[in-house]
Amino acid sequence: AEHRTIIEVSDAVALAAAAAERLIKQIEANTERPAICLTGGSSPKRLYELLATDAYRKRIPWQRAHWFIGDDRFVPESDPLNNMAMAKGAFLDACAPVANVHAIKTDAANPDEAASLYVRELQTFHGSDKLDAAKPLFDLVLLGVGPDGHVASLFPGYPGIEVSDRWVIGVPEAHVKPFVPRVSLTLPPLASCHEMLFLMSGADKRAILGRVLAGEDLPANRARSRGETVWLCDRAALPEGDSV
Ligand code: 6PG
Repeated sequence: AEHRTIIEVSDAVALAAAAAERLIKQIEANTERPAICLTGGSSPKRLYELLATDAYRKRIPWQRAHWFIGDDRFVPESDPLNNMAMAKGAFLDACAPVANVHAIKTDAANPDEAASLYVRELQTFHGSDKLDAAKPLFDLVLLGVGPDGHVASLFPGYPGIEVSDRWVIGVPEAHVKPFVPRVSLTLPPLASCHEMLFLMSGADKRAILGRVLAGEDLPANRARSRGETVWLCDRAALPEGDSV
């Protein structure tokens, strides 16, 4: 467990291809109902678009694979800020059966209500309200990292990062842009996976990646899979001297 692997790739194109291979490998390893936890933000967009291309699309058992999201912005699906809407537009609408796409319901009365509904959705899929090291919730969890070191919508210094008795929480206020309420998985369900895969691309990520690699206490460093934790980084994102 606790182990972290850093993989360096040349650029954003290579990063999307490497992420696609890891995603397909985790899906193939689950012969029943593979579960993938997607992420929002700009980091995964190229990967999502790649999965919809013929070459990748035919390698994924769409009837069996299930797609969740680690956090969402509490805005209507029609808002471009909505994370699951981005993933749907990039690949899910074209590839996945509607019943296999598990979105956070941002048309609920409020973020807490949406969080409760998503807990139920996750626990129904999992067949249990307990996380079990022998049977992880997800096969793969994708994550991006914000400029302040947040993952999903777990911000540094916010109470959500400490929550261990609830799988999903409402986050009334964000710490960075966009300043809209969020709904986020907490660390325990995110950690319940065979592989947690961080996507780090571009010079904008270099400062925060340096702080992560220096071991600073940030949400991004507290997010560790009970299986494998992999940081996929392109050259521009890696601080000088941190090339691997
Ligand atoms: C969100 C994301 C968030 C994101 C990071 C990185 O809802 O905003 O899930 O955790 O992954 O903020 O965002 P970028 O990929 O846009 O840099």
